[in-house]
Amino acid sequence: MTIRNIIRMGHPSLRTLATPFPEQDIHSDRFRDLIQDMRDTLHAAGGIGLAAPQINEMVQVAIIEIDEGPSRYGDLGAVEFSVFVNPRVTVLNPEAKGYWEGCLSVPGLRGFVNRPQSIQVDYLDADGCVQQRCFEGFAATVVQHEFDHLIGKLYIDHIEDPTLLSFEAEFEQFHLSAQD
Ligand code: NI
Repeated sequence: MTIRNIIRMGHPSLRTLATPFPEQDIHSDRFRDLIQDMRDTLHAAGGIGLAAPQINEMVQVAIIEIDEGPSRYGDLGAVEFSVFVNPRVTVLNPEAKGYWEGCLSVPGLRGFVNRPQSIQVDYLDADGCVQQRCFEGFAATVVQHEFDHLIGKLYIDHIEDPTLLSFEAEFEQFHLSAQD
């Protein structure tokens, strides 16, 4: 079990395009260790998703794991532990909805971001199998947030209204109850 350091906004790696993970290396110890480190790090941080560049591994690998019940983002539906290698997103419906996003690499802040709420993802899973999966609603937002990390983007890049960027305590005091 290895909990890795999560790099924070300002670190150049968070603004760098990650390289595709070599498909032939998916069954390697290196890949297995990377996924285990990412999962340990995600659990230790209490997050719901993590991308490899956030632990300064510049490959296109992301994980998502949302448990049943309330999380730091409220009770928004579960996603079982999932590994995405070299994912590609296709927007199925451009209709967008906003959520107050947070990021382990931007600690202490929340920001309101609109994203398409119906997407298809083509990717390789942890066994190297080609997969295609659709995500709706909050899960679609989480997926797009994590995959942005693979191309050097952060959620703050998508904030349309800068008055909807808040520290967590002020978010809870002034904005949380105003959510639908
Ligand atoms: Ni993030």
